[in-house]
Amino acid sequence: MTHRKLIAGNWKMNGSLDANAALLREVIAGLGGARCDVAVCVPAPYLAQAQALSAGGALRLGAQDVSAHDKGAYTGEVSASMLRDFGVRYAIVGHSERRQYHGESDALVAEKARAALSCGITPIVCVGETLAEREAGRTVEVVKRQLAAVIHLNGHCISEIVVAYEPVWAIGTGKTATPEQAQAVHAVLRAQLHAATPRDDRIAILYGGSMNAGNAAQLLAQPDIDGGLIGGASLKSTDFLQIVAAASAQAG
Ligand code: 13P
Repeated sequence: MTHRKLIAGNWKMNGSLDANAALLREVIAGLGGARCDVAVCVPAPYLAQAQALSAGGALRLGAQDVSAHDKGAYTGEVSASMLRDFGVRYAIVGHSERRQYHGESDALVAEKARAALSCGITPIVCVGETLAEREAGRTVEVVKRQLAAVIHLNGHCISEIVVAYEPVWAIGTGKTATPEQAQAVHAVLRAQLHAATPRDDRIAILYGGSMNAGNAAQLLAQPDIDGGLIGGASLKSTDFLQIVAAASAQAG
């Protein structure tokens, strides 16, 4: 059973028209033989630029957030249908930086996933424990609670989501979860998703948190790690393309 892996870059709040143009051209030029799906989640103002530069190619476009609302008086928010207008295929929802700095609750994250799904956009639902939660032995409880909220609100549509396990203590810290630590949590999430989906579709579960060119192959070799959500290393084309190559090498 071989599935194409998904490597998604999360640029976070980085970039400029000039820097993006160079990065996108290099990434697109290097994707020739890729045997995995590849996406970049860019800041909203650059969606049009990224759409134009990636038009007709293999690189898929993603957003880093989406409003839970369809339209209306929600200053600063961007709706799923607006993202759709720019060819967006994926929207990250519930990233730990949004949970932490913007107070996003499990319930709101579930509504954002629903909003994305209603416009045909695949939500990349992020879950993950803090260091304190891990040390208190609460990792499984936390990630299951976060995912359960999305499952309960979205019912059978759940087969259309992507999940990303991002241990908060591994994000931007250079501290990666070991392949064994990541696999253990992915297996828990896999079982939870399996119980929730009547059809036995395999929902992709990505790992995120200091994944880089050096550790990607080992992480991606784990049976329940279906790809990566890449922060810092997605801003350098050579690093990002090496991760894409590691994922491609595992295609059957
Ligand atoms: P880093 O790869 O920079 O640790 O970020 C991971 C992340 O948060 C991706 O969404």
